[in-house]
Amino acid sequence: MQELKTLSKEEMQSLDVPRISGNMGSEKSKGKVYIESYGCQMNFADSEVVTSILMNHGYGTTDNIQEADTILLNTCAIRENAETKIRHRLKGFQALKSKNPLLNIGILGCMAERLKTKLIEEEKIVDLVAGPDAYRDLPNLLESLESEDKAINVFLSRDETYGDIEPVRLHSNGVTAFVSIMRGCDNMCSFCVVPYTRGRERSRDMASILSECETLFNEGYREVTLLGQNVDSYKYEDSEKNQIISFANLLEQVALLNPKLRVRFSTSHPKDINDEVLYMMAKYDNICKNIHLPAQSGSNRILDLMKRTYTREWYMDRINSIRTILGDTCGISHDMIAGFCTENEEDHAETLSLMDYVQYDFGYMFSYSERPGTPAAKKYIDDIPEEIKKRRLAEIIAKQRFHSGIRNQMMVGTQQIVLVEGDSKKSNSHHYGKCDSGKVVVFPKKNEQKGDYVLVKITQCTTGTLLGERID
Ligand code: SAH
Ligand code: SF4
Ligand code: F3S
Repeated sequence: MQELKTLSKEEMQSLDVPRISGNMGSEKSKGKVYIESYGCQMNFADSEVVTSILMNHGYGTTDNIQEADTILLNTCAIRENAETKIRHRLKGFQALKSKNPLLNIGILGCMAERLKTKLIEEEKIVDLVAGPDAYRDLPNLLESLESEDKAINVFLSRDETYGDIEPVRLHSNGVTAFVSIMRGCDNMCSFCVVPYTRGRERSRDMASILSECETLFNEGYREVTLLGQNVDSYKYEDSEKNQIISFANLLEQVALLNPKLRVRFSTSHPKDINDEVLYMMAKYDNICKNIHLPAQSGSNRILDLMKRTYTREWYMDRINSIRTILGDTCGISHDMIAGFCTENEEDHAETLSLMDYVQYDFGYMFSYSERPGTPAAKKYIDDIPEEIKKRRLAEIIAKQRFHSGIRNQMMVGTQQIVLVEGDSKKSNSHHYGKCDSGKVVVFPKKNEQKGDYVLVKITQCTTGTLLGERID
């Protein structure tokens, strides 16, 4: 395992940036914080932890950037364009900062961790940089800005899980919520920056996960999505009971909280998802039959270069198990990367043929973006021309659209239990929600409310949505 890029205490001191202890828990109002999130669901969940920490230290929150005393961007570093977006956003803040020189602008999350002091140096208007494991320090860092120019904390931790912090739900529909069950990643996929930005894998204690899910249920939430980069490697040692809790054990405990609480999870790693998890999914009706199983490529040669540690055949075997244990209607989605180093037309054809084999319901598809410091950036040449990456990606997307159409069409004529999440985006005379397999269902409103389960007969579909009518 490669040493993670954390700064030692000595290195931090030599950076000449303050990290001053503040007045924890002070009651006086400390101004309003505006927070914007980018990247994966984990980052959005982290912003809810950050909000909780700041509110507990006397900060207010605002959705109106104009009235903010502090702007925080919770950033992503997964692809170059994710970072470009943040840099543009920061440039846009220049005007706000010149109007109000006391305005604090802070960068959190993965781009903060990756670039550390560079963001302060390159983007002159950034005052604060905090990595994903430094959020408890935010009140101190903000307070230090009253007397110092800049504040930074990018230490990565081996045990921080924020398990004891009750997230403040942001932009919530009041029905579905994300619950982080672990942090970091110990895999070393050669293309991926996450192990460097999020640090070592660690699992959150089960009791705090269950308590968060229970609180959510009591507040009216009806669906939780358990989050981790590789949920199948969840492992928590309950020293009191002398027990090791696996992901399958955790799933069962969350499912048992209440049959009316739906449970989803993301992301599963093909090397780790095992039949025990699949049988647990089959055992409980409220564990949704919906699996996100990123493949990244269908070519064994490329999978090997990516250090994904499974083969195309292994992946297909996992798909076979899913179909056997959970049936053909289990929703399966993927992530796929087009144009990884040395990928040739044969490799690309293997990716397309894997997609044909699986017939995914949904996919997130990307063209390869070299990330500085990753094994791929160090060892391989990013040698696929942009226009070839683009063309291959377009072929992957077109295939996915075709498969999504087939998979959605399969649902027409069936009856689905839908958890109502709110008004349809296109029409307020329609409600929308998700069915068991994770597909969005839109139907004309009757007397149901957000958070209700209703039975819907699917009558039509598009490639993205099922349309139907309530029949109960
Ligand atoms: N933990 C998850 C993925 C997290 S990152 C897993 O193991 O599958 C989300 C997705 O971004 C990845 O699945 C991958 O498809 C994509 N991705 C990661 N690094 C990338 C890169 N350098 N270029 C393009 N896509 C990338
Ligand atoms: Fe990245 Fe691989 Fe970890 Fe996923 S499993 S976060 S792709 S290193
Ligand atoms: Fe992006 Fe970090 Fe998530 S790099 S995808 S925000 S873990």
